[in-house]
Order: sequence, then structure tokens, then C-alpha cells
Amino acid sequence: MRPRVIINCAVSLDGKLALGTWRQTRLSSEEDMARVHRLRNSVDAIMVGIGTVLSDDPKLTVKEKYVENPRNPTRVVVDSRLRIPRDAQVLNGAAPTIVATTEEAEGTVPNAEVIRCGRGKVDLSLLLELLRERGIRSVMVEGGSRLIGSLLRQGLFDELKVYVAPVVIGDGAPTLAGFPAAKSHEETVKLILTNVERLGEGVLMEFVPAGKV
Ligand SMILES: NC(=O)c1ccc[n+]([C@@H]2O[C@H](COP(=O)([O-])OP(=O)(O)OC[C@H]3O[C@@H](n4cnc5c(N)ncnc54)[C@H](OP(=O)(O)O)[C@@H]3O)[C@@H](O)[C@H]2O)c1
Repeated sequence: MRPRVIINCAVSLDGKLALGTWRQTRLSSEEDMARVHRLRNSVDAIMVGIGTVLSDDPKLTVKEKYVENPRNPTRVVVDSRLRIPRDAQVLNGAAPTIVATTEEAEGTVPNAEVIRCGRGKVDLSLLLELLRERGIRSVMVEGGSRLIGSLLRQGLFDELKVYVAPVVIGDGAPTLAGFPAAKSHEETVKLILTNVERLGEGVLMEFVPAGKV
């Protein structure tokens, strides 16, 4: 059994998560930021890949500006080789933090519990099961490209929420599909659109996996 997995991201009109440098750029409108923080506050855990920690250094906490008396769910970083910088903001002690790594990775991380699952890369299916055993019933995945890509390809998600901003970034920037492109229609990840909503200057689209309905 695994927790409910909600993938959330903001993209440009051409489906890019960040700039060509892979540095983040603000894509969410103020209305979308408020939605993201409310969603963070409603889940048991917020998960990102190590690439996002290295490029954006997010705190992954809930801002009081958007939510009164925020809960600050557990933060989970997927990091096969324990590359996490010891001064990363997710290690600031503001919320419980788990670093998920592989059997072969050695060492500890300050202000975080290290969970070992899988060899080579973190076994996401096993990680989700271990999180569920720790009482985590819902996980919001906030990026980046390769972590979202793996979850989409493995069908390890229940909802996908994509905020589309009215900007165009161009070739070479990361997308929400950080995996080799499908070479046939059968290989594509299929989704069902369940909701569309204007939020500020952009649009929120919500999907579920096609197999789930
Ligand atoms: N617009 C948005 O909503 C948004 C949100 C977040 C991030 N971003 C952007 O996304 C970009 C970062 O994407 P990214 O792909 O570099 O980073 P990522 O998805 O955050 O992390 C990917 C890394 O996680 C590790 N990993 C371990 N096991 C994995 C598995 N089973 N599947 C996938 N990854 C696994 C791998 O590194 P190891 O092998 O070393 O462990 C992998 O390279 C940045 O440009 C950031 O700004 C955008």
C-alpha cells in the first residue's frame, strides 16, 4: 500500500518547468501560490528530487502569508548518492525531513532521517510504501523534471496538477517529463483531464491517470 500521490508543478505555455539554465523562474501567479501553499498544508509529506534542492534550494514549508497556523508537513528529498548540501534549506529543522537514498550510499545527514531503499536509484515504489508505514497517507510531489518523469512513467501517482503560465521559454529547458521521449503512442503517459480553472493570468489543469477511471 502507498500514500495518495499528488504531483504539482507550474509550467510555461511550452511545457517548461524552469529556464534554459535550469534555474527557476516564477511561473505561478499569486493566486496559484496561495493554492500551492494550501495544498502543502493539506498533505502529510512534500517530496522533491535532489536536482530541485541543488538548483532551487527550496524550504518546502507552508507560508503564514497564505495559511493561518501552518502545519509544515514532512519534507522528503529523493537523493541516491546523498549529494544534499549540509546547508540546504530543507535541513533547517523547520519541519521533519527525510532523505531517501540507496543501500550503497553511506553517511548521515544533519536534521534529517535517512531512509535507504533500492540500489543505483531510489526505488520510488518501495519508498512510498515505507512512507505509508510511517503513517504518511498523502504526498505532494513538487518536482523536478526527473522525479516527476519517473513517477509518471511508473504510474506512481493519483493526481497531476499543472499550472500553465502565459510565458514561452524555449528549447533546452526542463519539462515535467524528464525521461526519454516515447517512440510510439503506446509508450506515452495517458491522462484524463478532470478540471480546468483560470487562476490569475494562467490556467490550472488537473488530471488523473487514464487507467484509474
Ligand atoms: N516549475 C516547477 O513547478 C518546478 C518545481 C520543482 C523543480 N523545478 C525545476 O526542475 C529542475 C530540476 O529537475 P531535475 O530533474 O534536475 O531534478 P529532480 O527531479 O528534482 O531530481 C532528480 C534527481 O533525483 C535523483 N533520483 C533518485 N532516484 C530517482 C528516481 N527513481 N527517479 C528520478 N530521480 C531520482 C536523481 O539524482 P541522483 O541519482 O543523484 O539521486 C535525479 O537526477 C530545475 O530546473 C527546477 O527549477 C520546477
